[in-house]
Amino acid sequence: MTDAERRAALEEVAAEIRACRRCRLHETRTQAVPGEGHPDTEVLFVGEGPGLNEDRQGRPFVGPAGALLDELLASIGWRREEVFITNVVKCRPPGNRDPEPDEIAACAPFLRRQVEILDPALVVTLGRHSMARFMPGAKIGAAHGTVRPAPPESGADGALVFAMYHPAAALHQGSLRPTLEADVLRIPAALIEARRRRLGLDPAGGPSRTAEATAAPGPAEPVAGATGPVDLDEGPASPAVVAAADGGRPPTDGLEALAGDGSTAPAAPAATTPGPAPAASGDSAAEAATTEADRDQLTLFSPA
Ligand code: URA
Repeated sequence: MTDAERRAALEEVAAEIRACRRCRLHETRTQAVPGEGHPDTEVLFVGEGPGLNEDRQGRPFVGPAGALLDELLASIGWRREEVFITNVVKCRPPGNRDPEPDEIAACAPFLRRQVEILDPALVVTLGRHSMARFMPGAKIGAAHGTVRPAPPESGADGALVFAMYHPAAALHQGSLRPTLEADVLRIPAALIEARRRRLGLDPAGGPSRTAEATAAPGPAEPVAGATGPVDLDEGPASPAVVAAADGGRPPTDGLEALAGDGSTAPAAPAATTPGPAPAASGDSAAEAATTEADRDQLTLFSPA
């Protein structure tokens, strides 16, 4: 799909969302909030549902939780315009209550279509309701800061999922903030891992490596099927892998911090950009590496 086709497809879904009356949430909304971001991104953030500010503006994460999300992204050198941000439900639950199961179910086809169109390498879930779609059976207390392969029924087949607490949780419970700040620093490594797996460079060759992605949280809940946690801390990748997975950057560019030693000490700023993955034109990792021109393009993101 070309960039233009992806934009058009996303806009078609957005138009349907704005006109949607599939559940009771349409009765109380001011505006539906389809989501926004770069259509060519590799990283999709999925929150729970619009709040008051989002309902007024028709844009996701523009209130206090959005300000914190922006800050967290900035800590890894990313901007919201470089990723795509949407929610499990597209209309505000009255009084900011949790979305009901039937409301989530009514909205699920929209989220699934967005996921299929964007075809992200990495899905970052914000909060329990989002995590439930992409890491079924996981418990947020154990799964935050870890990655697993996305279940095919999510529409993100082939992608990795990285779980985080919802930013609003840290606004209500300040003690969660350091956890969110530590978890977000692991996202670039998760993206590198997601790219490697897409390129078939995963040395384990499959989705079932079992080591934890971070030393801080306890073990993730085991879930059915090939959805086990993926190790982000197995040591530096080979230079060829790094060159391919990190858009052709020199292998020393922040990778020690990203590959990690299992600690949750602050990592270096982002060593990878959430843009399009290198297109594999042949068999070797070297052939799959992006050119400098490709990399330049990654920084030319503009709001959708
Ligand atoms: N919380 C969410 O889950 N989504 C938003 O868009 C805003 C706040």
